[in-house]
Amino acid sequence: MSLRLEQNLLALDTGAAITRISKMRVLVITGAGVSAESGIPTFRGKDGYWRNLNPAKLATPEAFAKDPGLVWEWYRERRRRIRNAQPNPAHKAIAKLAQHTHEFLLVTQNVDDLHARAGSSKEKMVQIHGDIFVTRCSGCDFVDTGRGGSPEPPAPDAIYPNSGRLRSIAPTSAQAEKKKEDVPRCPRCEGLMRPGVVWFGEQLPWDELRRVENYLEDGPCDFVIVAGTTATFGYIIDWALRALASNGELVEVNPEETPLSQFATQRVRERAALALPRIVDELVISRSSKL
Ligand code: OAD
Repeated sequence: MSLRLEQNLLALDTGAAITRISKMRVLVITGAGVSAESGIPTFRGKDGYWRNLNPAKLATPEAFAKDPGLVWEWYRERRRRIRNAQPNPAHKAIAKLAQHTHEFLLVTQNVDDLHARAGSSKEKMVQIHGDIFVTRCSGCDFVDTGRGGSPEPPAPDAIYPNSGRLRSIAPTSAQAEKKKEDVPRCPRCEGLMRPGVVWFGEQLPWDELRRVENYLEDGPCDFVIVAGTTATFGYIIDWALRALASNGELVEVNPEETPLSQFATQRVRERAALALPRIVDELVISRSSKL
């Protein structure tokens, strides 16, 4: 099988061409860049969270132990922003690709629900860094999978009205008192509830990790797309490379160079919301026209 992108358009070889899509095994890996055009900040980009905020103060177990109110304030702000956002054409294209391929897995580092709202099913998606709308106990195994696990929305005075960003991560003492009250408690053990995301220094969720490994073990992928991630974490590159069949295509969709770029067979230096619909349409149209 040979699939390739030519001049940024996906071209399928003729002949056996389209065993192809219908029999195709696909892995898609996404990161914050895919949600950027829905108005969700990335982490390391120009206006990314980690440019203005210190991850050690907001996204580690130590930060939570030290100041759970501050951590909750940040996660409430992010939840609010995600609720107000809409999936963009990149999310929709990925959901469409899943429908048209024989075997498909989406591994997203994004904790937002935009892939799901665009139509990607839970069965074909792994949220490897967790789900921001899940709230779980830091002391026992109680999990609240709904959206009601924390008092929301955040206090209006915590947010800049125009940008929606937090005013400051250094609280006044009055704010600190208020934040203590805003930290939800576990209904079972009274422990502190925390967002259901993976923080720096924590293990990836075992069940989700197993699902990725199972998919990789089940066979090589004809097509691997990695979109909107700096591929900072070694496991992202590792999965992309391990998934790839010897004659498969590894397509990177990212306006910027990343550590993965050197391994990509196709580098699409465009925004995901522009590139992914075109890539997916090319695949799907080629398939329909040959059936
Ligand atoms: P980053 O913020 O590190 O990277 C975002 C990537 O998206 C960059 O490579 C950008 O060039 C690219 N990008 C920006 N806009 C884009 C667009 N419109 N289309 C396509 N690409 C675009 O985000 P991640 O790689 O997802 O972890 O970060 C990985 C993890 O680091 C996150 O899941 C989070 C963070 O700390 C946890 O929360 C555990």
